[in-house]
Amino acid sequence: MKAIITGVTGQDGSHLTDLLLEKGYEVVGVSRRTSTDNTERIKHVLDHPNFTLESGDIADSSSLVRILENHGHGLQVEFYNLAAQSHVAESFKQPGVTWDITGKGVLNALQSIVDLDLKHIRFYQASSSEMFGSSFDYKTYNVHTGEIEQYQDEDTKFLPQSPYAIAKCAAHYMVRLFREAYGLHASAGILFNHEGPRRGETFVTRKITKWIGEFIKWKNSQQGVFAQGQIGGRDHENYIYVEDPLNPEGFPKLRLGNLEASRDWGYAGDYTEGMWMMLQQSQPDDYVLCTGETHTIRQFLNAAFKHVGINNWENYVVVDPQFYRPAEVDYLRGKNTKAKEKLGWEPKHSFEDLVKKMVESDAQL
Ligand code: NAP
Ligand code: GDD
Repeated sequence: MKAIITGVTGQDGSHLTDLLLEKGYEVVGVSRRTSTDNTERIKHVLDHPNFTLESGDIADSSSLVRILENHGHGLQVEFYNLAAQSHVAESFKQPGVTWDITGKGVLNALQSIVDLDLKHIRFYQASSSEMFGSSFDYKTYNVHTGEIEQYQDEDTKFLPQSPYAIAKCAAHYMVRLFREAYGLHASAGILFNHEGPRRGETFVTRKITKWIGEFIKWKNSQQGVFAQGQIGGRDHENYIYVEDPLNPEGFPKLRLGNLEASRDWGYAGDYTEGMWMMLQQSQPDDYVLCTGETHTIRQFLNAAFKHVGINNWENYVVVDPQFYRPAEVDYLRGKNTKAKEKLGWEPKHSFEDLVKKMVESDAQL
């Protein structure tokens, strides 16, 4: 069994590589040329006998053709397209590049497979819950909380709210078209947010846990100056100060944007297993992977700071409008009934497990 993975240097690419190597796959990772090393997340597999790193860019069809010609033959080949400009806020600043990579890149891959007559390849596309935008279908009355709960699933219409989400929608429809027009075994996983210690540092969960890790290190370096869970008396709009005339240095507060948005956050390792499960089905299809729970950024902050014994996170955080987006997705909460019933997939980690994993990794607890 062989797997070609684009986006191999990213969070999901690295988890998927670990999983497939464990299963005995030969893994061909595709990585674009960068001027600084981008292999941090896969450095532990670079010398693995079943791992090959190929240079390629999803926006460059000729590189995909070369890789497919070299590695696409043989009976059981899977192609996981995880490459993307995946940062939603960044997509407002670089919409053209986002389109070329996240949207058109998928067409490049699919068309190359068809043109080279490699239609036996099973294809996975990393679709996203961002495609739902501000849309949801299910409304359930929770008798315990008295709240109306809203969900998204495979039948919910897409109402994309960013250049990233629009590119993902186009790619998603392209996968459907190639499945129907050419009979490709092409599936799309509509994945809700998934995180973990390998998450990129500018996504909100990791930004929070990384800040906590750095703050704890700084706090420990100030040993004896202040007790656990407390900072000194002198507080400032942008800095936390320790009340000690010998320590005039402050620590910059954590600067975030919209704290009210809700996300259905799961653990990335669970989700890459779901990707693999999709390609083991006899028929291609689209599946939502999610936890079914949703939490606001405030709730994540609360849980993460509590984990290191800080109850008053508000004193450490500055809301900075530079991190607001021109359009926001306020609420994401998925329903994973189809994945449960057809794939036998379920998330193994709770929200609390995820927060703990991330904080402990960044704070080296
Ligand atoms: P990530 O950490 O940002 O990784 C993205 C990967 O794409 C990186 O390896 C990056 O390479 C690569 N890439 C970017 N531009 C490329 C290009 N032109 N050619 C080839 N490779 C390119 O993202 P992730 O969190 O692992 O997500 C994986 C996929 O799932 C993405 O498509 C994302 O949009 C989608 N998704 C993610 C989530 C989530 O919550 N994580 C949810 C739904 C969908 P460099 O190292 O060179 O930058
Ligand atoms: N990144 C970031 N930085 N987000 C912030 C910040 C901040 O300082 N402050 C508040 N937020 C809010 C955003 O406005 C958004 O509502 C929420 O936190 C989550 O933002 P991100 O962590 O950047 O993730 P995302 O939901 O926009 O996108 C991620 O999930 C999608 C699936 O729903 C990415 O992984 C996408 O690639 C993925 O498709």
